[in-house]
Amino acid sequence: MRILLYTGKGGVGKTTVAAATGLTLAARGLKTLVMSVDAAHSLADVFDLDGRLTDKRCGVPVAVAPNLWIQEVDVTEEIGRHWKDISGYIATLLAVTGVEEVLAEELAIFPGMEEVSALLYVNRYARENAYDVLILDCAPTGESLRFVSLPPTLDWYMKKLFRIERSFLKVARPVAEKVTGVPLPPERYFDNVQALADKLDGVDALLKDPKTTTVRLVTNAEKIVLRETQRAFMYFGLYGFTVDAVIVNRLLPGALEDPFFDKWRKTQAHFLAEAKRYFDPVPIWTVPLKDDQVVGLSDLARLGDGLFSGIDPAASFRTTAPYSYQKKAGHYLLTLELPFAEREDVELAVASGDLIVTLGNFRHHIPIPRTLSGHAPTKAKVEAGRLTVRFERAHEEAERG
Ligand SMILES: Nc1ncnc2c1ncn2[C@@H]1O[C@H](COP(=O)(O)OP(=O)(O)OP(=O)(O)O)[C@@H](O)[C@H]1O
Ligand SMILES: [Mg+2]
Repeated sequence: MRILLYTGKGGVGKTTVAAATGLTLAARGLKTLVMSVDAAHSLADVFDLDGRLTDKRCGVPVAVAPNLWIQEVDVTEEIGRHWKDISGYIATLLAVTGVEEVLAEELAIFPGMEEVSALLYVNRYARENAYDVLILDCAPTGESLRFVSLPPTLDWYMKKLFRIERSFLKVARPVAEKVTGVPLPPERYFDNVQALADKLDGVDALLKDPKTTTVRLVTNAEKIVLRETQRAFMYFGLYGFTVDAVIVNRLLPGALEDPFFDKWRKTQAHFLAEAKRYFDPVPIWTVPLKDDQVVGLSDLARLGDGLFSGIDPAASFRTTAPYSYQKKAGHYLLTLELPFAEREDVELAVASGDLIVTLGNFRHHIPIPRTLSGHAPTKAKVEAGRLTVRFERAHEEAERG
């Protein structure tokens, strides 16, 4: 199953473009589901189905055209059951203890139920191979990043904390609570974490494999929107996601001759050219401003036909992952594409076998492969939009002082 993730700044046309992509793919014979991951759903409205998804059918795919289904994700009951225990306990833990700082920060970004629900669906549909293409209409950039950072966070939590906690508690439960004064989670909590982790197992790899999942950033040709798109591009890279197209929506059509739009036309031309320069070699696709809002099947079909003439929307237009490790003579190099980062923006740290890269408000644990055990990062640089970190054997580093 191919997964296309659409995101961008609020109001740029994400839902419209995601819906038009779905309709195009369905018309070309692929079984397609467009799923709204944004809690403020507007997918049904774009298909002009006012209210028809909001009653009992909420949360299940609804057929809207041949080969095409749409779904507005609800917080599933399942998640309600598992998640209340888990997030409840984490909240208590945070409130009562002076948890080690890094840990506290990790736990604080622990995601919400909506994101977990959406991922459960993604993983389920992928395992069942239920569709040829799954299109995710995501929330504006910030929240989408929370969504995509969930699997590694959960994974980290399971590997680094959960196991230790669980075995420790088996032994220590009788005395630990009295001694530490920290409330301990009930055994049910561990079962819930485990059940959830099993259901989500594999979703991280699925989302980070550019042959399966790519991100499409929707934007407009104006300064503020484009700046956010650049940041989004960088952050998705940081999380290991591959952006394989940027869609510039609402370009003024050439036929519009009113001098009122002269400045707008110049601004758009300037920032379209800038976008092409910035994102190269990622393809830029353009969509003109239509003469009216884009609502219903025929509007969407027309938009899709224009956008994808000569393009297969399901293809992966970039298949190189944003980071990789390479073996060199005597050392290893980690390369991470961070196209718009400056050296001052990037912070590095190593903890529990991970390289932790912090960029602005975002942070990602990049697992250091086992083959590099005994190696430590010795040098790092940010140059030409690329972070490289050199890993050397610990003793060589010591010899050189
Ligand atoms: N190319 C276009 N021409 C004309 N109208 C458009 C175009 N693209 C989008 N619109 C209109 O702009 C409005 C917002 O579009 P849409 O809901 O797709 O944005 P969004 O990015 O999903 O918003 P949100 O951030 O709220 O999810 C809608 O009324 C839509 O019909
Ligand atoms: Mg939307």
